[in-house]
Order: sequence, then structure tokens, then C-alpha cells
Amino acid sequence: LRTILIGPPGAGKGTQAPRIRDEFCVCHLATGDMLREQVAQKTPLGKKAKKIMDAGGLVSDDIMVHMIKDQLEHNKACKNGYVVPLPRVAVTEQNSVPRVLPPDTLPPRVCRSFVLDGFPRTVPQAEKLDSMLADRKEKLDSVVELEIPDQLLISRITGRLIHPSSGRTYHKEFQPPKKVMTDDVTGEPLIQRSDDNIDTLTKRLKSFHTQTGPVVQYYKDKGLWRRIDATQAPSVVWDNLRQVFIAAH
Ligand code: AP5
Ligand code: ZN
Repeated sequence: LRTILIGPPGAGKGTQAPRIRDEFCVCHLATGDMLREQVAQKTPLGKKAKKIMDAGGLVSDDIMVHMIKDQLEHNKACKNGYVVPLPRVAVTEQNSVPRVLPPDTLPPRVCRSFVLDGFPRTVPQAEKLDSMLADRKEKLDSVVELEIPDQLLISRITGRLIHPSSGRTYHKEFQPPKKVMTDDVTGEPLIQRSDDNIDTLTKRLKSFHTQTGPVVQYYKDKGLWRRIDATQAPSVVWDNLRQVFIAAH
């Protein structure tokens, strides 16, 4: 399964992608999460990206394409089963006895199946992804748009809580954690994203319509586009998504 989730801020990409990951054993590659990790680590890229993200703009295509390429080729976060690992045992020249390599010399794991969340966001990103996949002799199976009117996104965005290190998502009202402001899995604190306010949301929506709108047309022209009604409850959206993948593969 190689699929892309497209949708405006708050459509439910980050809520549904982990379900796809777990059900279909694929890598979940979320460019927003990758950028937030850079921000948290205060890397030069993180410092630059934070300004752009907080202003509701888009980080440059070159940076994002490089980031996705790197993740597809060396996904350290991939768990067994989410990837087809390269051989992890070396055969020594002298006696042909297999020897397990120490972890830092293990070859990178390559993501062969994935759900992309937040990428591609511009037509040049979509074109670069196509050529990247062509080089790997791989093809996309489907591109699913999570459709929802802008006015429903305000409450989703302003009520969202996240667990920064895992990217796990909650909602104060629609999907509350078991304990107030606490991650269900680790017990660590939840935070609000710095771009989750109405001002920035308005700008993010504008970026979505002007720059990601043409990406939808790009995939419609290729016959890969599917749509899902994202206004319904998360479990209903998930049932419908599952049906799309089961029908398409
Ligand atoms: P990114 O992190 O990708 O943000 P986004 O696209 O704005 O999307 P969100 O994460 O806000 O929404 P979501 O669809 O994941 O919603 P969620 O499931 O969490 O990108 C952030 C920034 O990074 C960008 O603005 C840009 O600057 C930069 N960037 C990233 N990728 C880039 C790229 N490729 N190129 C250039 N720049 C890039 O749900 C939202 C809330 O609603 C949650 O609280 C959830 O619990 C709740 N919810 C979800 N589904 C439902 C439902 N069905 N019913 C009720 N509540 C629901
Ligand atoms: Zn998200």
C-alpha cells in the first residue's frame, strides 16, 4: 500500500494515518511531525521552519523533498513489519558463517509501503515524489482527500492537544485523553501546537486552497484520487477509508 492523505488543517490526517499504519503495516510519514521534531531540537532548520509554520506558510519544496527522500530511504522509526528490511546479517568472506552486525553498522531500512501525511503539498513536490518513486520502480496506489468545509475546522484546531514526541493527537472535547492534559500511553504532558490558533489557521487554510488545491487536480488527472467525507466521527471516517483501500488493492 502506497497512499497519500490530503486534507486541510484539522481534516483528520494525523488521526487516521496511524490507523492505516497499524492495519496495513506501512510507514506513517508525516512532514509536519518531522518539522516539529526539528523545532523541538532547535536545529538550524527547526528555527527557520518554526517562523514559517507559525506564519501559516509552507517550507521550501527542496527541503521537504529532501526530508521525504531521506525518510523513505533510511526510516529509523520503522518498526518490524512496517518495512521490507534490507539484509541484517552479513556473511563473512573467510568461512561463510552468518554474523549479526552491530546496530550502528546495520544497513538502513527502506520504506516500501507508506501513508504520506502532509506531503506533497505543492505540484512540484508531487512531481518530485513521482520521479523518486519511478527511480525505485514503485507506484502510488491511491490519493485520498479528506473533504470537510473550512468552518468545521476551527473547533477541531483550537481544541487539539498533541503528545509532542509521538505525534499522538487528542481533542479536548471530541477525543479527550483519559487524564486531563496527559498522554494515555506514556503519561507525559500534552501540549497545544503553536500554530493552532485562529489567525494562523486562516493562513494555513489559504495555503491549502491555493497551493495544495492544484495537487488534488494533479492526482485526479492521473486517476488516483478518491474522496472521503471527513465531517463524520473518526470511527466512521476510518470505516470508509478502510473500504477505499480494500477496494483499491
Ligand atoms: P501539518 O502538521 O501537516 O499540519 P496541517 O496540514 O495543517 O494538518 P493538521 O496536522 O493541522 O491536521 P490533521 O489533518 O492532521 O488533523 P488531526 O488528525 O490532527 O503541517 C504543519 C506545518 O508544517 C504546515 O503549516 C507547513 O508550514 C509545514 N509543512 C508540513 N508539511 C509540509 C510540506 N510538505 N511542504 C511545506 N511545508 C510543510 O485532527 C485535528 C483535531 O481534530 C484533533 O484534535 C483530532 O482529535 C480532531 N479530529 C480528527 N478527526 C475528527 C473527527 N472525525 N471528528 C471530530 N474531531 C476530529
Ligand atoms: Zn497532522
